[in-house]
Amino acid sequence: MQTIILQNLSKTYSGGRQAVRQISLALDPGEVYGFLGPNGAGKTTTVKLLNGTLTPSGGSCRVYGIDPSAEPAKAHAHTGVVTEHAQMYDNLTGIENLLFYASVFGLSPSDSRTRAAALLRQLDLKDAADKKLSAYSTGMRQRLSLARALIHRPEVLFLDEPTSGLDPESAQNVNQMIRDLAETEGITVFLCTHQLRYAQEVCTRYGLIDEGRLLASGTLHELQKAIMPELPLIVRAEHMPHRLPFQQAGGENIYQASIRTEDEIPSLVRQIIEGGGDVYSVEVKHPSLEEIYFTLTRDRKRTENAEKTPGIQQAREEGKERTI
Ligand SMILES: Nc1ncnc2c1ncn2[C@@H]1O[C@H](COP(=O)(O)OP(=O)(O)OP(=O)(O)O)[C@@H](O)[C@H]1O
Ligand SMILES: [Mg+2]
Repeated sequence: MQTIILQNLSKTYSGGRQAVRQISLALDPGEVYGFLGPNGAGKTTTVKLLNGTLTPSGGSCRVYGIDPSAEPAKAHAHTGVVTEHAQMYDNLTGIENLLFYASVFGLSPSDSRTRAAALLRQLDLKDAADKKLSAYSTGMRQRLSLARALIHRPEVLFLDEPTSGLDPESAQNVNQMIRDLAETEGITVFLCTHQLRYAQEVCTRYGLIDEGRLLASGTLHELQKAIMPELPLIVRAEHMPHRLPFQQAGGENIYQASIRTEDEIPSLVRQIIEGGGDVYSVEVKHPSLEEIYFTLTRDRKRTENAEKTPGIQQAREEGKERTI
């Protein structure tokens, strides 16, 4: 069963702002889906729609088969949410906050205590368990918020910038925990962030969103093939035969060519050797998520500008430009 389904999901705020525009996607259990986009892209709005805090203006969404805006309580039994401004109680201690939320979700007192203690330990908050939340630092609050979201063993976890206030060590700890939850317990994670390097460490698939639109969705490999189909192949060789499609790059014996698949490498290397060249190293440069993202947004800007220029607009209409 697909745990999160969006079908042409749209949201226009009362002032007329179209924050989410016709987004369709479906997630399987165990996926960590990185929902990535700049400030104002529509990430938080999407999470609010998936939690029933907002009602769609168009399309629909289902979480664990439930319409969250029609039956929010039923949906919340299956979901945990970490947002930048988590609702918790400053005058209660860390453990009291967790026990309170455990009781809201109907956990038995003994199960609540065991679960809360385990989460506090996992999130490195054991020593702060009896401190009031008002004495917590931002990072501690954020970790407690994750513990709160997980207290009732949800099948779906929404994370809106979960590591924005964390130091590198805590961020790594939280990343590891998210990966483990997905891999070992099959939890579906919907993770919003604009920290692309962080996303690449934890996510199994990505959606790139801007101005409310889902521009591309897929694994790193799928995105690379769609957005940056040409991979640079860097070869260090002596005597590069002229007829081969290599260009000198940087150092004296460094050459570069563009390939589409790694299957092209053996033949190219063979041709260098047959042409009298000696090969010392061969490397394919795989783009990072960050490079893919910036290529996509740059291409989009170019296309938008082109639309304003009549000559290029005509070329576009004739299908001469690549669209995603
Ligand atoms: N309550 C609201 N009323 C009107 N417009 C809103 C409201 N909340 C958000 N918006 C607008 O909707 C758009 C999407 O906002 P949203 O908070 O979903 O973006 P985001 O991707 O989460 O951004 P960030 O990375 O800054 O958190 C923005 O243009 C924002 O100004
Ligand atoms: Mg946001």
